[in-house]
Amino acid sequence: MSSGNQDAKGAEGGDNSNDKKEEGSSNSQGAAGGDNSDSKAGENQNTEKKEEEKKSALFDAFAVSLGLKDEPKIESLLDTVDFNGIVKYIKDGKAKNIITMAGAGISTSAGIPDFRSPETGLYDNLQKYNLPEPTAVFSIDYFKENPEPFFMLARELWPGVFKPTTCHYFIRMLQEKGLLLRHFTQNIDTLESVAGLDPEVCVEAHGHFRTGHCIQCRAEYTQDWMKERIMKPSIPKCEAEECEGVVKPDIVFFGENLPFRFLKCMSEDFGKCDLLIIMGTSLLVQPFASLVNRTQENVPRMYINLENSCPPKLDPIMTVIFGSGFDFDGENNYRDIFWQGTCDDGCMALAEALGWGEELKTLVTTEHAKIDAANPDKCTTSAKKADCTSKEADATPKKADTTPKKTENTPKKSETPKTSDKTPPKPEAATPKATPGSQSKKTPPKKGNGNSTK
Ligand code: OAD
Repeated sequence: MSSGNQDAKGAEGGDNSNDKKEEGSSNSQGAAGGDNSDSKAGENQNTEKKEEEKKSALFDAFAVSLGLKDEPKIESLLDTVDFNGIVKYIKDGKAKNIITMAGAGISTSAGIPDFRSPETGLYDNLQKYNLPEPTAVFSIDYFKENPEPFFMLARELWPGVFKPTTCHYFIRMLQEKGLLLRHFTQNIDTLESVAGLDPEVCVEAHGHFRTGHCIQCRAEYTQDWMKERIMKPSIPKCEAEECEGVVKPDIVFFGENLPFRFLKCMSEDFGKCDLLIIMGTSLLVQPFASLVNRTQENVPRMYINLENSCPPKLDPIMTVIFGSGFDFDGENNYRDIFWQGTCDDGCMALAEALGWGEELKTLVTTEHAKIDAANPDKCTTSAKKADCTSKEADATPKKADTTPKKTENTPKKSETPKTSDKTPPKPEAATPKATPGSQSKKTPPKKGNGNSTK
């Protein structure tokens, strides 16, 4: 598979130095200019100023909660808070630093299952591994006790030849048009890279398969080395002297730190973001999900997904502490748009409305033809399972791709592999122990989506 230049060290677990750096960077980010001659005094002043701001925000939030004050009105940057408003905003040149956030739903039409869709999702299909709970297969604690289920699954799901989707190519178009500041993905399928996204632009928040490390001595191994052993089938064991540690691909497990690059880009990018597009994710895994709260308060956010599965806007006090959730149907919604449907359709609808429809179709056709030509005997893992004789098999969207679920707008059971929080963790609190295991327990989403176009 393609190789990006991402720092493989970043995916290593248990390195607290990442945490410290992040704390440092987020503090300095908030600093409003410093006095070089006395940086300590400057730092203190900044801390005091921030504390004052926090107190005042909390005081205001209490006043709003008690009905003593109206919620502050934030001016919308959109002419209309809907799909057309987003299109106009982009057409008017107001979105020059777009951040895209993605999850497994952007790859299901390539034939790769997501995690949580009922029936088709990975977590509904792991019975044969006898796991204490489905997410245990990606839990570092469980892996240390019993790595076999993970490697059995890895054997089945080893990155194969999959074609990026229309959605992936739409993101590439944003990059080519100079509008994409950063793409944050939770996916480990490398399809962003296959689609031609610049590794500098892409942040693989949950790691990748390109390298692996011994969980004991941290010796690094290549993808080919791991693949040879995993496919044998056997459990890859470290070859360093006097070490028999298991070698784990550098995908981030529940209970492990996220790559330092994730923390760095998270701190640096969101202040500059002028449009956030979130696609194909249940937004259930932290700290990734909390990124939606890191833009400035007035920045428009568009969520493209089969279902609205994310937590609704929080009350004023919780908002000060945790950041605001989406407010798709709120009376005072000034920025949140939910587009219900597939990521491919959503991206194509955006492209067409922006006048880029033909360009996107041509890009998809051309790039797919190149992949086909380079892989004449193409047979993906999922196609193999279905019917490897059909060349079309992997291109056929699975059930999860096209049909909005009946469970739409109903909260799913929240999986809590390690810690369970009743409210979304505060981003700053979540990032130091950047563990995807600390999932937010969802509050029931509101019914109806005035802002959905479907
Ligand atoms: P999920 O499976 O939790 O969510 C995928 C979302 O995409 C669901 O809301 C689906 O309804 C939606 N969806 C599926 N197909 C779609 C399509 N074609 N178009 C639009 N929406 C679609 O996957 P993630 O949110 O990516 O972490 O999961 C996050 C993390 O949980 C993963 O990175 C993984 C997992 O545990 C680790 O393993 C560390």
